[in-house]
Amino acid sequence: MAKSAGESTKTPSSPGKTIGLLTSGGDCAGLNAVIRAVVARAIQGYGWRVYGIRHGTMGLLRRPLEFEELDLRISTVNILRLGGTILGTTNKGNPFAFPMPDGTVRDRSTEVIDGVRQLGIDALIGVGGDGSFAILRRLAQEGGINLVGIPKTIDNDVGATEASVGYHTAVMVATEALDRLQPTAASHDRVMILEVMGRDAGHIALAAGIAGGADVILIPEIPYTMEAVAAHISKIRQRGRNFALVVVAEAVPDLTGRSVRQQRAGGTTTYGGIGHIIEKAIAGLTGAETRVTVLGHVQRGGQPTWDDRLIASAFGVHAVDLIAGGRFDRMVAWQNRRVVDVPLATAIERPQQVDPDSALVHTARGLGISLGDA
Ligand code: F6P
Repeated sequence: MAKSAGESTKTPSSPGKTIGLLTSGGDCAGLNAVIRAVVARAIQGYGWRVYGIRHGTMGLLRRPLEFEELDLRISTVNILRLGGTILGTTNKGNPFAFPMPDGTVRDRSTEVIDGVRQLGIDALIGVGGDGSFAILRRLAQEGGINLVGIPKTIDNDVGATEASVGYHTAVMVATEALDRLQPTAASHDRVMILEVMGRDAGHIALAAGIAGGADVILIPEIPYTMEAVAAHISKIRQRGRNFALVVVAEAVPDLTGRSVRQQRAGGTTTYGGIGHIIEKAIAGLTGAETRVTVLGHVQRGGQPTWDDRLIASAFGVHAVDLIAGGRFDRMVAWQNRRVVDVPLATAIERPQQVDPDSALVHTARGLGISLGDA
């Protein structure tokens, strides 16, 4: 599988380009559909060679380099349906501040750039979120690498694109969780709290909450009070409905305004735990019986939905076409029902959070869903 640059089969007589492809940051459904599309377009459309780099920039940091040539065998329909990424990925190990075993951090970016040179690629396609793009772009600028970005993240917080690969699948999983929670909530007269991912953006919570019939949706972009949440649930119960569904995004702060995080190995933290706080507060204020479900990484796995496969395929093909046109430092994007491309700098300018005045927020309010602010 992995082979060193010395074993490369590239010869001076290779007709076309050689491109590198890596997946970076948290995985999500649809990454393999991207890989399939890139390979299909590069080989069938242009006769190029594609090197799949293992575990994001880690594959370029390790010696021997960790990569494999991807051929048309990868481009079958099987991989289209497969969750995760066959290349592996990492959301740790920023080469500009690489965590060393002794606890220090070191700038190892020149080693990564050297890895790209050893690989002998003409261009690199990075599939990532805004954090990965910021790192890859800096590497590209410092190392003279021809970079094209493909946005992926269940959080859907990359700018300049209506959708990133993985988002729709995560929303579908969260919606299905609400579908499953509703009957058990009704059977037991309970208030069910569902905590969903989304890091600093409430897109998953808002979309799944609307699609899954939630009564309350809490997102980090709209400040809430527990009094407003409790009053809404009490009103539902007074009207005779015996259950309620609450969706809370992981980045919603606690009652004192602090973010709720879990300590992870290696000194990092991730969001998690706000659902339990909201559950206890609802139980205390309304007297309702409550239960909490933390959906977690279930939202990242499984088969991609049809629309994630569609976007992934369009993104992969367009990214290769950008390279063919010599158009670098750009990101493919989904806008107005079609694939386009934008400067990478625009896409990572700021994270795309939920606009509190957006049409979907208006829809939620129009349905009588409480956003915890009134
Ligand atoms: O960015 C994707 C994401 O799934 C976030 O929604 C979540 O906060 C985070 O990654 C979890 O990270 P990890 O995979 O390190 O637990």
